[in-house]
Amino acid sequence: MSTDAIVLLKNDHKEMRRLFKQFQNAAEDATERKGAIVKDIIEALTVHTYLENECMYPEVRQLLPDLEDDVLESYEEHHVADVLCAELYAMKPEDERFDAKTTVLIENVTHHVEEEEQDWFPKVREGLSRKQLQEIGARMIELREKAPRSPAQPSALKKAVDAITD
Ligand SMILES: [Fe+2]
Ligand SMILES: [Fe+2]
Repeated sequence: MSTDAIVLLKNDHKEMRRLFKQFQNAAEDATERKGAIVKDIIEALTVHTYLENECMYPEVRQLLPDLEDDVLESYEEHHVADVLCAELYAMKPEDERFDAKTTVLIENVTHHVEEEEQDWFPKVREGLSRKQLQEIGARMIELREKAPRSPAQPSALKKAVDAITD
């Protein structure tokens, strides 16, 4: 299995797109099913955001200072997703705003993922060696073990609280 950081993150993005499609294809009245899909979306996003925030972004920021502005914009986009995830996590699928909030989350994350894949990853691939990307990837595989899986877990919650009170 490849430990290339970009390959790993792209795999996560693929899984997100699959979950987004599931939600979009679910019937309007499939409340319970949509609730379960959103639970999966929140878990996938919580883990992925953690790996990028704790490893990929700081590593790239340090190794490729020219990409700093992109990294800072990404932190802000993650923050928006974190807030939406935390709100959705506290909601019931029957809530009248549940579907609308999920749709906005999907739109935001889709935009962010497209920017990463079309613009940011190519720059990172160009700037870093294969070995550097494999080392970052190996660290992310390790980090995944202890990554928070829901917004209620301490590290994810702290992140959201810090973002709101900053
Ligand atoms: Fe990201
Ligand atoms: Fe990403």
